[in-house]
Amino acid sequence: MNYRFSSRTAWDLGESDLARAIRLARGAGQTLIDLTVSNPTTCGFHYDAESILAPLSDPRALTYDPDPRGLLSAREAVAAYYGDHRAAVSPDAITLTTSTSEGYGYLFRLLCDAGDEILVPQPSYPLFDYLADLEDVRLRPYPLFYDYGWWIDFDQLERRIGPRTRAILLVHPNNPTGHATSHTERLRLEEICGRHGLALIVDEVFLDYPHTAEKLPSFAVGPHPALTFVLSGMSKIAGLPQMKVGWIAAFGPEVPLRQALARLEIVADTFLSMNTPAQVALPHWLQGRLGIQDQILERISSNTRKIMDCNLDLLKVDAGWSAIVRLPRLGMDAESILSAEHVITHPGAFYGIAERGRIIVSLITPEDEFSTGIERIAKVSN
Ligand SMILES: Cc1ncc(COP(=O)(O)O)c(C=O)c1O
Repeated sequence: MNYRFSSRTAWDLGESDLARAIRLARGAGQTLIDLTVSNPTTCGFHYDAESILAPLSDPRALTYDPDPRGLLSAREAVAAYYGDHRAAVSPDAITLTTSTSEGYGYLFRLLCDAGDEILVPQPSYPLFDYLADLEDVRLRPYPLFYDYGWWIDFDQLERRIGPRTRAILLVHPNNPTGHATSHTERLRLEEICGRHGLALIVDEVFLDYPHTAEKLPSFAVGPHPALTFVLSGMSKIAGLPQMKVGWIAAFGPEVPLRQALARLEIVADTFLSMNTPAQVALPHWLQGRLGIQDQILERISSNTRKIMDCNLDLLKVDAGWSAIVRLPRLGMDAESILSAEHVITHPGAFYGIAERGRIIVSLITPEDEFSTGIERIAKVSN
């Protein structure tokens, strides 16, 4: 029997060359040093099990009393999180989702018809391709370029705006470049969005991980001349990806904001996907976030120092969990490092980096493993 599937799911399901090389090396009994681990729950951080799990047994979770945007108590806790970032956010402007990824899905449905376009930064996070495919949305990449730091190429960005463009997506700070959007860039993005009637979608999942003592400003802080959606969630803020909690905070001029929120409420009501125990526990998890953030920040700082101590060429990074290393020799790349040194890194191309010889490493990798891997890369680089 021949079954037909949607063309939106006609992805290339083949194994990448790197994945194949990793599988074969492991199959041959080779021990590999993995510098790509970005799941915080497997990186050796201490989680306070009692304070994380106890709120899940709150008897309030026994009652199903759904609100499409999420329980008010949970939305108030998210608003308080933004209060800590000097932003006055109304709980009414917040929609809870089961992840930031689901939040993207809601926004793509809210803003786009099939075939409409969203501008996305390049390099950035590869999941966007799939999220867009699933909503029949087309992504148009706008380039970030590196010149003693990362910059948005505004000329190119404007050139990519067409009649079907509906939004500009920004990752602040970016994954994997670690670029934090400057105030000047924010003003320019808002001006462009306003002029073309585009929404601004800002992914702030890594906001709380600046590499200096200075806090990064959230786009939740007004004013908001353009319709703006800020996405975030527990997976990075509290190092709890398994709890599946994210949200969308919406801002902007009164009329389009009201329209957007009313429509978003129907989108959320259609799925009612977020579970009550997680909503009840959310205020506790947000309250406890500094315990894990401090450990992650310490790990990031020590691993970054390791890269510099080994004289590797680390591209300037403002924030986040990843770093880009520029390899010095022609022909060196993630695959050659794997085969020669048995160290797993992500190739730059995985995140849409056009230049060759760039690898991405996860700064939350456990220190011992990270040190060993970086020393091996340095040995073949220097
Ligand atoms: C930039 C960015 N946004 C969103 C996500 C996904 O977050 P969530 O677990 O909330 O779906 C990731 C995951 O790595 C990410 O790197």
